Amino acid sequence: MSRIAIIGGSGIYDMDGLEDPRWQQIETPWGDPSDKILTGRLGQTEMAFLPRHGRGHIHSPTTVPYRANIDALKRLGVTDVIAISACGSFREEMAPGDFVLVDQFIDRTFAREKSFFGTGCVAHVSVAHPVCERLRDAVKASASEDITLHDGGTYLCMEGPQFSTAAESKLYRDVWNCDVIGMTNMPEAKLAREAELCYAAVAMITDYDSWHPEHGSVDITDIIATLQGNADKARALVRGLASALEGAHPDCPRGCDRALEHAIMTAPDQ
Ligand code: ADE
Repeated sequence: MSRIAIIGGSGIYDMDGLEDPRWQQIETPWGDPSDKILTGRLGQTEMAFLPRHGRGHIHSPTTVPYRANIDALKRLGVTDVIAISACGSFREEMAPGDFVLVDQFIDRTFAREKSFFGTGCVAHVSVAHPVCERLRDAVKASASEDITLHDGGTYLCMEGPQFSTAAESKLYRDVWNCDVIGMTNMPEAKLAREAELCYAAVAMITDYDSWHPEHGSVDITDIIATLQGNADKARALVRGLASALEGAHPDCPRGCDRALEHAIMTAPDQ
């Protein structure tokens, strides 16, 4: 059966109608996840909600325990991960309040553990197509009409915690052709692939980063206000996803669930 995990911020896990809700502490060899994980059922579908920064926002984008988070979800039997996060926009037409169904990433993070593999067992998975197309289709089918959803976009993941300089913002927009910028979807997406989990990313635009001549610099109070304004839409999207993905988990057409099949280099008897 499918079990859907939502990794997101506050508001997302506050779902009406979640049956048999339980906050579960999951132990992993990579340490503690960001927080306990809220499990329960929406309709027939098993759900898991993980507050990426912890309740009360205690982890910065750099200190989020990405490996423990993905490992904990795997241990819970999760098959599909939907990441919901705030982002800045590099496109005039991608406005604050809109959602972007990301399909590519540029990973500019440098201070995070990015793999479950290393000394002892070496593996190289492909992340050429880091997002599961089946899950992207499910998000498209679940988005209500009051959501402006942009289908596809390249997400630049920066280390933070400071926002970009205006020069960086223009480089990412004009030269690298990125569409949105955030601080959290990497290495999350890479680790999900190593864990053979299907992964899709919904980026909620909160600002125009710092390239836009008519908008000032990024302001955290504006970001929080936009996220709060979007909370109902995000919850409705999650509800729609629970019903769109209900039932048996199909073999992933893109092979996300078999990503390690030809990836491990280390001999089995090592
Ligand atoms: N999250 C929300 N807005 C952002 C921005 N402009 N840059 C990085 N992360 C963000």
